[in-house]
Amino acid sequence: MSYGDYQIELYLGALSGVLPEHPFSYPDLESQALATLPPELRTYIAGGAGDETTQRANVSAFDDYALVPRMLNAHAERDLSIELFGRTLPTPLMLAPVGVLGLVTPDQHGDVHGAEVAAATGVPFIGSTLMSDPLEEVRPACGDTPAWFQLYTPRDRDLAASLVSRAEAAGYEAIVVTLDTWVPGWRPRDLASGNFPQLRGKALANYTSDPRFAEMTGPDPDPGATVMTWVGTFGNPLTWDDLTWLRQLTDLPLVLKGICHPDDARRALDSGADGIYCSNHGGRQANGGGGALHWLPDVVAAVDGRAPVVFDSGVRTGAHVVTALALGATAVAIGRPYVYGLARGGVPGGVHVVRSLLAEADLIMGVDGYPTRADLTPDAVRRRG
Ligand SMILES: Cc1cc2nc3c(=O)[nH]c(=O)nc-3n(C[C@H](O)[C@H](O)[C@H](O)COP(=O)(O)O)c2cc1C
Repeated sequence: MSYGDYQIELYLGALSGVLPEHPFSYPDLESQALATLPPELRTYIAGGAGDETTQRANVSAFDDYALVPRMLNAHAERDLSIELFGRTLPTPLMLAPVGVLGLVTPDQHGDVHGAEVAAATGVPFIGSTLMSDPLEEVRPACGDTPAWFQLYTPRDRDLAASLVSRAEAAGYEAIVVTLDTWVPGWRPRDLASGNFPQLRGKALANYTSDPRFAEMTGPDPDPGATVMTWVGTFGNPLTWDDLTWLRQLTDLPLVLKGICHPDDARRALDSGADGIYCSNHGGRQANGGGGALHWLPDVVAAVDGRAPVVFDSGVRTGAHVVTALALGATAVAIGRPYVYGLARGGVPGGVHVVRSLLAEADLIMGVDGYPTRADLTPDAVRRRG
């Protein structure tokens, strides 16, 4: 059974009169999903920093690369598997951490449902610090599929330690420290609607369930006190000196998210990081940058095989997944696409998005004669123009 066989399932379904329930193009997915969401979530999820040039560049950067077909290397079965921190994963795809995931399903348990998408597809789930259910209640929904925990490092070091040790105890297999969000970026769409979900007390379950956070608020805090305590601790302006402390918080693999410069990648590994996550946060944090894909080859060269490199920002199609792999990503994560799938069609909608991306990637690898991850080297792509 190949991932590409999803298309056979869909065609056979149509033959027996069942037309596909979920959309196939990203614009359809986005517009239909946004139509189901309340206005404040629409701006928060779809919007980005500044006039969103960087956000658009994340997607258009993929147009700068072309996959070169190779013939007489047809394999009826492709092998999309990768090795990551000692695990063999069936595919190179991951679900990026998304802080309002909990809010996108009507029951407000979207984090659990995101984990269910992971369980159904074998695609690992990276749970955000900003969940609507405590991380201990989200992890079991992943089943046997691995989960990682993403840390927004609080200013309070004891709270950071508490979140990391809870994630370890709950079975998360790596800690992803997001470096680019110690302060929120300038987001005109949210500014115009005065909207910031956390300031309205949303997605704070990992804080309100935390013993150290309870010490910080005191007993029975009112919602305003909870939010103000969160505001006071959320964003820690980390520097390289903090990495020694972060490193000793856990024996789990430590992955640094937001690394785009080769010198930062080298220094991160020299300072004890186990993985590099090349991302510009989907263009939500700083406008005026280029597509994250353009930073990937230099980051990969700097890492030089010493550690895995996860990539996200702008991945919308199976072709994008294959291109990022060819440019050296070990694994490729998606943000908005699975959020929209979940918002529009619940767990089946999220599963459809993941299966569609995998099917397209698998079929491209088949048609273009790159049957395994190892075949996808930089020689598989050319810069256009
Ligand atoms: C609504 C939203 C919330 C996000 N929340 C987080 C978060 O809590 N932690 C984090 O590290 N990244 C967060 N991200 C960034 C994603 O992890 C990822 O880097 C980004 O979505 C990738 O770009 P894409 O949406 O174009 O695929 C968020 C992204 C979106 C769209």
